[in-house]
Amino acid sequence: MTKELFIKHREAVLDLMEDNSILIEFNRPNLNDGAVFNYKYDENRNYFYLTGLLEYENIVILQKIKGNSSSMILINPYDEFKAKWVGAPLSKEEVTEISGIKNVRYLDSFNQLINQYSSLVNNIYLDFVPNKSNRLNEDELLAKDFKDHFPWINILNSRPLFTKVRTIKSEEEINEMRKAISITNEGIKNILRHIGPKYEYQLESYFDQLIKYNGGTGYAFPTIAASGENACCLHYMDNTSKAKDGDLILFDLGSSVNMYCSDISRTFPISGKFTERQKELYNIVLKGQQVVFDNTKPGITTKELNQILRDYYKEELYKIGLIKEKTEEEVSKYYYHGVSHHIGLDCHDLCEYTPLKAGSIISNEPGLYISEEGIGIRIEDDVLVTENGAEWLSKDIIKTVEDIEKFIKENRVNE
Ligand code: GLY
Ligand code: MN
Ligand code: MN
Repeated sequence: MTKELFIKHREAVLDLMEDNSILIEFNRPNLNDGAVFNYKYDENRNYFYLTGLLEYENIVILQKIKGNSSSMILINPYDEFKAKWVGAPLSKEEVTEISGIKNVRYLDSFNQLINQYSSLVNNIYLDFVPNKSNRLNEDELLAKDFKDHFPWINILNSRPLFTKVRTIKSEEEINEMRKAISITNEGIKNILRHIGPKYEYQLESYFDQLIKYNGGTGYAFPTIAASGENACCLHYMDNTSKAKDGDLILFDLGSSVNMYCSDISRTFPISGKFTERQKELYNIVLKGQQVVFDNTKPGITTKELNQILRDYYKEELYKIGLIKEKTEEEVSKYYYHGVSHHIGLDCHDLCEYTPLKAGSIISNEPGLYISEEGIGIRIEDDVLVTENGAEWLSKDIIKTVEDIEKFIKENRVNE
């Protein structure tokens, strides 16, 4: 990724800030400071969005004073002990190279900077992440400090600003997501080569190997590999059952690249062939996905897209006798989630719940879950909203009954 992207991101946020304000974004402290390993650590996406950096503990400050905008970043100095155990932090020059921020200082100047700002600005933006714990996080602690020491400064929430800018993706962000989707595709093909009556986690492992091999930098979310009735639990993640011949298995998975996510679901027959009943239900879901796609365009809301799918299901499920009345309640017995969410740095990305605009990337993920038949089907693709409609970003990932059966027949490895 290029530093120009992060410069643009900062400009977009600065544009939305009130004049005479600063915005402070923390990357969380390393929860494991001092121990042997740097455990996998959940990055602050808003911090990454502004800087392109993944290092923990840093603080980025955007300032807009008397109409002039600039950015500063505070980082850890070199530490020989940490360098030997977990690697040296980036140097000031490296931080500038990645983020485009020229004003790089060390973290110990933070308190002094805040004192200086207190006489220069009227507002401070902090990122109030929903906090379910009973401890205050850095932003809440700082807000409390400000109220105590600088009561004349307004404390504002930066979340609505990030929500607005992250709802629309740039070409460079879309490209990262295309890469993530393409790596996910490789992983899915590898599952198909090995599909058969195995444990769900074994089938999942064929995905994992290809993600790493192809340079995926992470997972968008924990993989769901749910065979038979397990697939009726939307977020089943145990992946510990043995899939049986005759079962369908639902995979909901995604690689990420440079923090940008893909989010794909596919449902496959363990035996390599769908039964007539499975095929009937699968094709209803597949056609529903197309109906949603055909209606995806600027101006429509994801709630309206979901209602279009539900109205389609009322007709289709009634036709096959699965529901006895064309009502919302009947549909909800077999379809009980939404059809779309935004995707980006988070799999369920920050977004404005307003009519869609060109440049948003959303999921299109209809499902049908018939617990009494041990069948759960979800088909999920990632879709870019364009000026005139929409584009399937994941169109290369195998999807029709015929293509799935053919691929398995031609590519399954004898084991
Ligand atoms: N993988 C979670 C979802 O599809 O929303
Ligand atoms: Mn998904
Ligand atoms: Mn999804």
